[in-house]
Amino acid sequence: MRKLDVVVLAAGKGTRMNSNRPKVLHELAGRTLLNHVLNTAEQLTPAQTVVVVGYESEQVRLETADTGLTWVEQGEQLGTGHALQQALPELNNDNLVLVIYGDVPRVAASTLEKAVAAAETGEVGLVTAILQDPAELGRIVRNSNGRVQEIVEFKDADSAARAINEINSGIMAIPAGEINGWLGRLKNDNAQGEFYLTDIIAMAVADGVGVTAIEAAEDEVTGINDRAQLAQVERAYQQTQAEVLMQMGATVADPARIDIRGRVTCDRDCFIDINVVFVGEVRLGAGVRIGAGAVITDAQIGDGSIVQPHTVVEGAVIAKNCSVGPFARIRPGSILEDRVKVGNFVETKKAHLGTGTKAGHLAYLGDTSLGADCNVGAGTVTCNYDGIEKHRTEIGDEVFIGTNTTLVAPVDINNGAFVAAGSVVTSTVEAGDLAVGRGKQRNIKGWTRPDKKTRQKK
Ligand code: UD1
Ligand code: CA
Repeated sequence: MRKLDVVVLAAGKGTRMNSNRPKVLHELAGRTLLNHVLNTAEQLTPAQTVVVVGYESEQVRLETADTGLTWVEQGEQLGTGHALQQALPELNNDNLVLVIYGDVPRVAASTLEKAVAAAETGEVGLVTAILQDPAELGRIVRNSNGRVQEIVEFKDADSAARAINEINSGIMAIPAGEINGWLGRLKNDNAQGEFYLTDIIAMAVADGVGVTAIEAAEDEVTGINDRAQLAQVERAYQQTQAEVLMQMGATVADPARIDIRGRVTCDRDCFIDINVVFVGEVRLGAGVRIGAGAVITDAQIGDGSIVQPHTVVEGAVIAKNCSVGPFARIRPGSILEDRVKVGNFVETKKAHLGTGTKAGHLAYLGDTSLGADCNVGAGTVTCNYDGIEKHRTEIGDEVFIGTNTTLVAPVDINNGAFVAAGSVVTSTVEAGDLAVGRGKQRNIKGWTRPDKKTRQKK
């Protein structure tokens, strides 16, 4: 096996995106297009990956995780052939070169491997596809023996060439030694006045170097040139991800209304309602139910737990048989043990809720730990911030916190304690004690209400 250099062409502006952001920084399933392409290329363990950037190159570099990439500037975008030329000084003549495009994000590693395998035999490996609607893509011209002869760009094509429905994906693998000569001979006397990389196919054939076409599925080779294509590719991508979840044994209420921006794994018999968004790494146990409109980021949710509609979970661990939401917000560092119940408009942050603990409505629980079987009344707030620092509220087992309690941290409430509704708690409550921290009610006998008429006379 010869070593492999990968070249990613990503210098274009992407005019048709109508955007201030370079095209390759637009996102598919929460990751930039360039990131998709680089991750796929990485699977081939290349000796080197060269990224050709131009338009807003600083921004592209800043927003791309640099795993030892070689960056090359293409000052002016004079065409794909010119772009590859800029990478030449970085390439090793003894290696194979795989050219991929930053705006073709869904190509499979296995397809790239086939192209590289063709180059290994001394030929050019060219990834093509047969499309119902080849639109304005470059056309693959074959001879009567079915061998690839050349690529004709749509804008340069006559009606016969335009009738061809085999298209150029832009992806090709080439023995590096050949590139120099071919690129040196490129001309820009074509419809777009560009140096087309695609012209090297006819040069290869003229030099007696065969071209092997690797036919890929349409989904793999769809390039993104405008936002409509981006949206189409997003839906197709999400459909595949929904299928993976369904194969794992989840029921997906509508595969057209799920978004996975990361990776979800699940055990059997989960149910995922419509419009759920998953971000990052999410792990669902068996029988988990996720309600409509929930957004779940980097979380683990244990067997039998229910996330009710419109709940936001991030950076949290929810154990088994819990119920969370609707309209709850479980923020980073939250740990909910088995059978915890967190209801509507409850926010938790760095909060550990012990087994069976319930906070049914309208509460803020931050920088706190609650033991098992506590009951937190509506309107309870842990006052964790004094304007300078955060402080903790430590609550034991079987504690009852009455409605509308203000817990001024740092404060401890020990096992079995009971806090009366409406209390402001500022000091330790010992085990089993009742804390009443509120003004005493005073009733005034025979009080007369103010009267509008008498008041106006004064
Ligand atoms: C190109 C191919 C076409 C193919 C199509 C597949 C050529 C001449 N045409 O056309 O045959 O069907 O892709 O998607 O190659 N780029 C640079 N520098 C440049 C120009 C482009 O880095 O000067 C990069 C772009 O950032 C992009 C890629 O090359 O990632 C393709 O460029 P684009 O202008 O989109 O080419 P197409 O017109 O789509
Ligand atoms: Ca393109």
